[in-house]
Amino acid sequence: DGLDVRAKAVGKLYFGTATDNSELTNTAYVAQLGNTSDFGQITPGNSMKWDSIEPSRNSFSYTNGDAIASLAKGNGQLLRCHNLVWYNQLPSWVSSGGFDNATLISIMTNHITNEVTHYKGQCYAWDVVNEALNDDGTYRTDVFYNTIGPAYIPIAFAAAAAADPSAKLYYNDYNIEYSGAKSTAAQNIVKMIKAYGARIDGVGLQSHFIVGSTPSTATQTSNMNAFVALDVDVAITELDIRTTTPATTSTLAQQGVDYATTTNACKAVSRCVGVTIWDYTDKYSWVPSTFSGQGAALPWDDNLVVKPAYWSILSAW
Ligand code: XIL
Repeated sequence: DGLDVRAKAVGKLYFGTATDNSELTNTAYVAQLGNTSDFGQITPGNSMKWDSIEPSRNSFSYTNGDAIASLAKGNGQLLRCHNLVWYNQLPSWVSSGGFDNATLISIMTNHITNEVTHYKGQCYAWDVVNEALNDDGTYRTDVFYNTIGPAYIPIAFAAAAAADPSAKLYYNDYNIEYSGAKSTAAQNIVKMIKAYGARIDGVGLQSHFIVGSTPSTATQTSNMNAFVALDVDVAITELDIRTTTPATTSTLAQQGVDYATTTNACKAVSRCVGVTIWDYTDKYSWVPSTFSGQGAALPWDDNLVVKPAYWSILSAW
């Protein structure tokens, strides 16, 4: 058995991984991606983002997103669709602003309605709003917040709910995996969406961690329970645990311990539906290009060979 088989054996819906279109020409990579013993779910790393889907106003381009969706379908894997509203990878025709409140609401809801309708019935979940918060718990002052105010969030959720009643709708962010101002603010977002009368089904904890300094299982568990108390699911949506490169035998051993720490937290919380790693091999990780001098963050190495983290996750489930 593998990671997904073990996750399902303890009542989870999936263990999954992100992937990206440019990686799909690598046949060895695609073979392991389609190994449903390990992966019961996939997330497109880039190809459902705004700049990919609607690069110019009201011009929608679904080719790359469709390729990932059909891969998941062919493999019998759940699809987490990512994402609809985010300040980053947002085309300049949106981010440059200059729209009044009503116009930007209509641009945002048009984007959501078109994309969610296109993928209707194919997404187990949608990350509706991604990274709306600063680390201090204040709202990120992006074009949506600056033009519409915090109401852009429930408006986005209502539009997504109308377009696909069966997709689970998530708020997704990082540094909300432990208690503190940002996690509290994310809980307040859940309450605000519900107060507005819109539907939110879950909160995604990205979990981009660092070897040797991940929050403890107890910390992650109690934080997840704070969200669950608001009657939403939780999911680990973008797990990776980076280290200074090159990694050593001892950092890879610690990384295994750290992967088990998060696996155990999800295992302990019945409404934690599953864990997704942010791609499965170091070969295609976003980490080295984003965090200088760091990498080796995933359970498979550059040559698609499993690292200690793989066995550690497997036995933690
Ligand atoms: C990353 C992708 O993995 C990269 O390929 C891309 O260049 C930048 O975005 N939080 C998120 C993801 O929600 O969408 C980001 O993905 C990583 C951080």
